[in-house]
Amino acid sequence: MRDFLKKFRHLPAPMEGVMRPAVMEVCTALELSPVWVTPFFRVSETVPKVKELKKFLAPFLPGTNRVILQIMGKDPIKLAETAARGLSAGAAGIDLNCGCPSLQVIRHGAGSAAMKNFENTAEILSAIRQVIGKEFLSVKTRLGFENILEAETFLPLWESSGAVDMFTLHYRTTSEGYKAIPMREERLKNARKLIKNALVLGNGNIATLDEAEELCKTCSLNGTMIGRNFWRSPFMFKDPALFPEEGRKLLWRELSNLPYGEKHWARGSAIEMASLILGANSPEADGLKKSFRQ
Ligand SMILES: Cc1cc2nc3c(=O)[nH]c(=O)nc-3n(C[C@H](O)[C@H](O)[C@H](O)COP(=O)(O)O)c2cc1C
Repeated sequence: MRDFLKKFRHLPAPMEGVMRPAVMEVCTALELSPVWVTPFFRVSETVPKVKELKKFLAPFLPGTNRVILQIMGKDPIKLAETAARGLSAGAAGIDLNCGCPSLQVIRHGAGSAAMKNFENTAEILSAIRQVIGKEFLSVKTRLGFENILEAETFLPLWESSGAVDMFTLHYRTTSEGYKAIPMREERLKNARKLIKNALVLGNGNIATLDEAEELCKTCSLNGTMIGRNFWRSPFMFKDPALFPEEGRKLLWRELSNLPYGEKHWARGSAIEMASLILGANSPEADGLKKSFRQ
């Protein structure tokens, strides 16, 4: 997986609530990316069964796709067991979510709380590594909870566990949410220097593949993840020459044919996806909103 990611350097970022099963079946049929990272699978009380993880991964897997299962939680043993089961269920690697800013998630000690409880996170990473052997393990994180200086402590510690093949760094802190924050390049450049051996992907407000390439050069990154703007230009990885507008139309044509009531696809999902892909005020999103009210 590490070598594979050296070749396919730019990936769609995981997006919970957007990467629904129905949406992903369409995206994988269109072969929009050769590799996907799932949205988080939360592990709290119980360790999921292989069967449950297979169902979660299935929409990402058709064709030659590789999928990295993202997991989130605070218990090293449960997360390690989930990672092992995730690989048995067909995942090509495991990603640990350390950056989710949801208050509900943080209150339970997961997501961004991993940066506060950074020693426990190092234990999680070592526990996962012990059970997955040489398989791929990555971490997706922000640069701190309150302050970007926190990264100077947790990134070297996590890397020194020897467990992590790749870090994806989102340039904001948790407190900054998704606010407009300047100096993305400087932040990523400095954070990148804290990591010696693992691959490093950058993330945050990347609009195009050219911008992603530029960011890699400026900050010495191995690649990037592109979140919201991937959906505004969904063929960016498959066919970079295609105009974003054409790509949006192609994806929307497939999504608008999906039957409601299956695989988490409801009228509300269609409105959300039309708004994300075509714009909240697009004729398609407006039309769906009106038909919803009738
Ligand atoms: C609706 C939504 C859902 C997200 N879900 C996840 C998730 O499940 N796991 C994760 O690591 N990040 C998640 N993120 C964060 C994105 O992966 C990404 O880091 C963030 O959107 C910044 O990148 P962008 O500016 O390219 O969108 C989510 C973001 C949004 C907006």
